Parts: sequence; structure tokens; C-alpha cells
Amino acid sequence: MNVLVIGNGGREHAILLALRKSKRVDKLYCMKGNAGTAQIAENVDVDYMNVSAVKKYVSEHPEIDYIVVAPDDPLSIGLVDELEAMGKRCFGPRKNAAIIEASKAFSKNLMKKYNIPTAESEIFSDYDKALQYIRAKGAPIVLKADGLALGKGVLVCEDLKQAEEGLKEIMLDKAFGSAGNVIVIEECLKGLKYTPGEEVSVLAFTDGKTIVPMITSCDHKRVYDGDKGLNTGGMGTFSPCPFWSKEIEKEVYDKIMLPTMHAMNAEGRTFKGCLYFGLMRTDKGMKVVEYNSRFGDPETQVILPMLKTDLMDIFEAVTDERLADIKIEWEEGACVCVVLASGGYPLGYVKGKQITIGNTGEAVLVHAGTAVKDGKLVTSGGRVLGVVSKGKTIEDARKKAYKAVEGIHWEGMQYRTDIGEKYRKG
Ligand code: AMP
Ligand code: GLY
Repeated sequence: MNVLVIGNGGREHAILLALRKSKRVDKLYCMKGNAGTAQIAENVDVDYMNVSAVKKYVSEHPEIDYIVVAPDDPLSIGLVDELEAMGKRCFGPRKNAAIIEASKAFSKNLMKKYNIPTAESEIFSDYDKALQYIRAKGAPIVLKADGLALGKGVLVCEDLKQAEEGLKEIMLDKAFGSAGNVIVIEECLKGLKYTPGEEVSVLAFTDGKTIVPMITSCDHKRVYDGDKGLNTGGMGTFSPCPFWSKEIEKEVYDKIMLPTMHAMNAEGRTFKGCLYFGLMRTDKGMKVVEYNSRFGDPETQVILPMLKTDLMDIFEAVTDERLADIKIEWEEGACVCVVLASGGYPLGYVKGKQITIGNTGEAVLVHAGTAVKDGKLVTSGGRVLGVVSKGKTIEDARKKAYKAVEGIHWEGMQYRTDIGEKYRKG
């Protein structure tokens, strides 16, 4: 089979690395890809948000048998629907199901209607009413722009002043554009043991009939050590989540995963693909913080290296709605991904810095914002590289990953030094 993966980042490189291990995959393509994907796939220089350009490319390349649409934005505009209409087989939800991520108002209403545990919330399209609500509720309080905002549309506000400023930014100044026309205002959840909270990402394969959780992972959203600084797309991940247990798995499966799959079916929005559950462990049990309609980035970088089953077999089983027939197996042990980012990220940063790479030992470099310029590897984005290492334990994996980081350099490179330490310090 010849497989096209749509997307540019670390997640897409990680998916390609897993597909490369498949006995059934001949040739890989990546639209648009980066310097890492170019080593194992043919990079295709087409803007994947330009639906007619994608369709033109695909119709001119009938040798492509299967297409994985990995990022949220092409999913939200219905790229899968368009490709399926051309007779192509795809991995990823259709537009009417991708809304579970693309509209937070939709997902909050879904959870309310189907009794899926989440933070209490109200939805507003009127600034004055939202302001009144915030003043009545007080802080801490969480504001979420309804639409997609590159993972930055959520403000966790410690005090009322912050909340009022945040509301103005989102609804009046349109800091996230039209994503902020509607706002979700919700209760601030607290972790059971640790502050600010105990979060876990659980990704699941689903074909609308069966839902199968993958191994768990934990992200580090803030830019600096100790969960300080601004929210980012994710500065590193580790797997598995240390507080995960059989009991929690059962609770999440029975009260969150299955009900979500059934709810989407009941709404006529069957979800097929990878459904991502961002969860928090609270004193009232596990609650949904967010849904994503796709693989997480950088969660995928620590999950797929542990997959023993052929990823292509799983993708096709999802497409053909026979996921129940497949046994999905994982390696024992742990995996850690340390993200190396451009100086200044997640705000402004300079691209085009030359990257030098020393001995990385057992670690694998997953490329995100990299390019080749004049024969040299250079930075081309905010998150540049993910340094991924497996180990017997998280401690073992993180040591190997940080050892490899020592040999990598470019001007301004920044990273967190505490990936994999979460939940060990109160
Ligand atoms: P999201 O973009 O929805 O993943 O939100 C970004 C981050 O904001 C989450 O990973 C949480 O750390 C935090 N967050 C979102 N909603 C809440 C909530 N209701 N209570 C506390 N923290 C939250
Ligand atoms: N790492 C969080 C996300 O992919 O949204």
C-alpha cells in the first residue's frame, strides 16, 4: 500500500515512523512534512488547508491507496469527507464528528446531555452576560474560546481581574479570531492530590462500534519547568501515566469512553478515527477536560513507539468498522519525549537557525519544525525536535532522552528539564 499522511509536525513524523514498520506499506508520502519526514517519505509541497489543491494532487496520484488526516484544522473543514467522496480510504473523522474538538460549546453540550463527567460550565455569545456570570461565580475560573485556537484558546484565571481581562481579549479584542465569538466559562477543576491538577491523555481507536484505549500518557503544556509560563502545544510527554490503574481505566471506559462513542452515534455523528480524551483526576472521580478529534502532539511520540501491532492493520480495521476483530498489543516499559523548541516560543521566535546533532544514543529524533536549507538542517517552527527514548521505567527513559539532548544545539534552543517528573513533586 502507498499511504499519504497529512500534516507537518512531530505527530506526523511519529505516525510515519510507525507506518514504516508495517509489512504492508510500500511507499509513504507526507503533505507537507518536514526534514525528518523527508527521510522516510516523499514530502508533498501542497497546502493541506486548500481542499481543491489536495484533491487535485490526490487525483493525479492514483497510486495513493490510503490517507491519514492527522491535524485538527483539515479535519474540521471536512477534508476526510471530500477525500472519501473521491473514493479514497481515510483515517480520521468526518467533519460532523470532528466538531467534538472544533467546537467546545458542542462538546460541553454533548457531555451535559449524555451525563459524561466534566467541569460545570455555561456558554455565552453575549459579552455582558458572560461578564455578569464571571462576577457572580468568582475566581478561579476557566475561559475557553469555542473554536480552534492552536491549543491556546484556554485561560485558567486565578483571580477576577485576570478573568475579566481574558474575557475582553477573547470576546471583544478577538485574540483568537472568530474562535472567540462564543465562549465556554467553566469551573476550575482541582487535582485529587497535586496542584494545578493531575491530567492524563488517553487516546483511543474507535470505529463507532468499538472503542479501544491506547496506553496512557501525560503532557507538559506550560513552557517552563514546574508548569510555569504560557501554555504551548506541549513541551514533552511521558508514558505511562503514574497514577493510572485498572480501576481508573474501568471508570474511564464505562463512564466516559463508551458513553462518548454512543453519544456521537445517537447524534448522527459517528466518530471514526483517533479520539483523544484529556482527563483530570479529581476528588469526584475522572472528568473530561477536553476532547480532541485526532492523535495528540507530542503524545503520539511516546505512544506509537510502544505499539507492537501493525498500525496499518489498525487504521484499516477502523475504516472498515471491524476494530473488534483486532488485538492491539503494547510493549512493556516507559517512553519519554523531550521537546526542543525555538527561543521565544510560544510567542515570537526566529526560524532558520542551524541545528547540530551529536551522538543521540538509543534516542530517536522526531522532527517537528525542521527544514533543509542549502544542505543544512535548520529550524522552521516553534517546536523543532522531539527527543524520544524508551526505557524500563520513566526514570530510565528520561535519562536516555536528556543524555541525547546534550548533543543537540542551535542558537536559542529551549526545553524543559523536568519532563517525566510530574506527580513526583507535590
Ligand atoms: P485545553 O486546551 O482544553 O487542553 O486546555 C488547556 C489546559 O487548561 C488543560 O490541559 C488544563 O491544564 C487546563 N484546563 C482546561 N480546563 C480546565 C478546568 N476546567 N479546570 C482546570 N484546568 C483546566
Ligand atoms: N498535546 C495536546 C494536544 O495534542 O492537543
